[in-house]
Amino acid sequence: MSNPKLTLATDRNQLEQVIINAKDALQNAEEKEITLSAYQDDQNTFITIEDTGSGIPEEVQKRIFIPFFTTKPTGSGIGLSLSKQIVNLLGGSIKVTTQKQIGTKFYLVF
Ligand SMILES: Nc1ncnc2c1ncn2[C@@H]1O[C@H](COP(=O)(O)OP(=O)(O)OP(=O)(O)O)[C@@H](O)[C@H]1O
Ligand SMILES: [Mg+2]
Repeated sequence: MSNPKLTLATDRNQLEQVIINAKDALQNAEEKEITLSAYQDDQNTFITIEDTGSGIPEEVQKRIFIPFFTTKPTGSGIGLSLSKQIVNLLGGSIKVTTQKQIGTKFYLVF
């Protein structure tokens, strides 16, 4: 059930990093869409950020949370590694599913 008052004590910057990445991934995509959702069950709060972008190749996916790993010409590779650290500090986890040329979905679970 959607809850308009759902709140979560989190760091807005880590969410922002995931959204910026989603936007980057849309650059050469035909369909450009980013979908955000937040929901809660008895135990957890879920935030999802889904894009219709390039997807992440398998060999890249293994490394996206490593500090300074980037595939972007001017990237620093800090975004996701820092996001993961902060989410973990808050007792949460961050997961990703992705399909080439279809898109990527990040899950933040608290
Ligand atoms: N939504 C996504 N779609 C496709 N690839 C992604 C997505 N999110 C992350 N990636 C991949 O993960 C890599 C690491 O992301 P991360 O945010 O850590 O660094 P970055 O975006 O390259 O640089 P920055 O430090 O500026 O954020 C990216 O370079 C990109 O290859
Ligand atoms: Mg980034």
